[in-house]
Amino acid sequence: MLKRRIEEKFREFFIKPLNIIEIESSIITPAKVFEASGHVKAFREPMVTCLKCKKKFRIDHLLQEQAKMTDTQTEKLNLNEIHTQMKEHKIKCPECEGDLSQPKYFMTMFTTTIGPYSDAIGYGRPEAAQGIFVEFKRLYEIAREKLPFGAAQIGHALRNEISPRQGPIRLREFTIADIEFFFDPKEPHCPQLRNIEDETLHLIPAAQKQSDKKEPIEVTVREALKKYIKTEWQAYFMVLARDFLKELGIPEDRQRFIEKLEWERAHYSSQGYDQEIYLDRWGWTEVSGHNYRTDYDLEHHKEHSGVDMQVFKGYDAPVLKEETILEPILAKIGPAFKEDASKLVDLLRQSDVQEVETSLKTKGVYKAGSFTVLPEHVRFVKKRTEETGRRFTPHVVEPSFGIDRLVYTVLEYAYSKREGRTVLKIPRELAPTQIGVFPLVTKDGLAEEARSLHETLVKKGFRGEYDEAGSIGRRYARADEAGTPICITIDYQTLKNHTVTLRDRDSWSQVRTEKDNLILYLQEYFLYDKEFKEMGKIVQPNGKP
Ligand code: GLY
Repeated sequence: MLKRRIEEKFREFFIKPLNIIEIESSIITPAKVFEASGHVKAFREPMVTCLKCKKKFRIDHLLQEQAKMTDTQTEKLNLNEIHTQMKEHKIKCPECEGDLSQPKYFMTMFTTTIGPYSDAIGYGRPEAAQGIFVEFKRLYEIAREKLPFGAAQIGHALRNEISPRQGPIRLREFTIADIEFFFDPKEPHCPQLRNIEDETLHLIPAAQKQSDKKEPIEVTVREALKKYIKTEWQAYFMVLARDFLKELGIPEDRQRFIEKLEWERAHYSSQGYDQEIYLDRWGWTEVSGHNYRTDYDLEHHKEHSGVDMQVFKGYDAPVLKEETILEPILAKIGPAFKEDASKLVDLLRQSDVQEVETSLKTKGVYKAGSFTVLPEHVRFVKKRTEETGRRFTPHVVEPSFGIDRLVYTVLEYAYSKREGRTVLKIPRELAPTQIGVFPLVTKDGLAEEARSLHETLVKKGFRGEYDEAGSIGRRYARADEAGTPICITIDYQTLKNHTVTLRDRDSWSQVRTEKDNLILYLQEYFLYDKEFKEMGKIVQPNGKP
């Protein structure tokens, strides 16, 4: 449920405001798609095998662990250089200290066959993005053939990791949320920018990353667009991503955007920033990637499938163009070049008109292959045409989140201890259970009253849990551990005057409130950030459970 809540928040933050089209495409995908996208060639990691225990490892990770190299350093190495570093730093098997084999590349897409045909290779998609690119034409139609527009997909992606050893941070099967946002490269303006250009981002641009001073710089979006970020839409999504993480409970000073150096970038990316957050257990960890994929993917699919991925954009009014056309004069070329005449005509038709004209004017001749063309062989004619629009391949920026990493991040930041007990301070709207409903005791009709309240709350759309087991203190403690923000207790007074006690997970304070106000107050609390102390009359300011 926590994961679903995070996905829902992602929709609220990115998908709804920009009217992005959300789709679901297949996980097992024909090989052709990933041959076209470049993944078959590029989606690989360097691997070694322990000669003693036969276990296999990612050698770049071993170099990082045992030789204290950074990922920026290891990413740059080819197999020979990796081997040299392995020998220099005497890298051993981390499990049994055995010697290691020479490194080789391992393709990290899962491979299968589709249906009963052994030659119908399929890959488990390593990203959801390609399911969007191959459907581009249809999505463009759904977007009423207007740019910019975005398409998104939240779903499983598979990566056949060599030796994933970071629990939920590196999974072979994980949930990815990819947004592909398409725009006209000649009109790259993001209208939302004016609302955010004075806001600041914590960036480690490429030059900073390579210098000794690796601290993030704090720059306004306006400044960042002049120096560090290539496209407005990318800057806009980075600001959204920062705010999204803040809403998940991660303060800004525990977030940063770090630029990928040229050799660290994915094969499709012309600029990439990783959004990293600080985790106690794993250090700075990527939770989202922001890549400017240009027209790389659409162009490659166009080339491999033969499907035209270009769009046509009409001008407001047709534009008049004057063109110079080169016309070979056959009556002169025929007698002069005899059987080679048609070859020369073909060559002239492929020549750059401007180049031919200049050469004839300045040198008196033009060389077309091995033929010498004279001014009498051609004429230049001015032609006026009307251009009604432009055809081009859209560009793409991509924000992409790893949802499982977000789940882990939310848990780590929510985890707290108070008086030796665990309190999971999950942001209230993400909490899997929003409200605990407890009878003080189960006799004298209190249980029935509490059960009926629980039922009403669930019908009204709250995620509630009824609990009557153990002392009230134990029930509060259980709710704190599960991150339930509010508990409601029904007691004898409830039967007398229709009031209930609400108890706050974070402050342990309690208020008493009219049962009739409950639904409204709870809606205001969960939807509009109403303060707990405004929910009723305070009866226990900072109570014990
Ligand atoms: N689509 C983003 C990624 O593959 O990381």
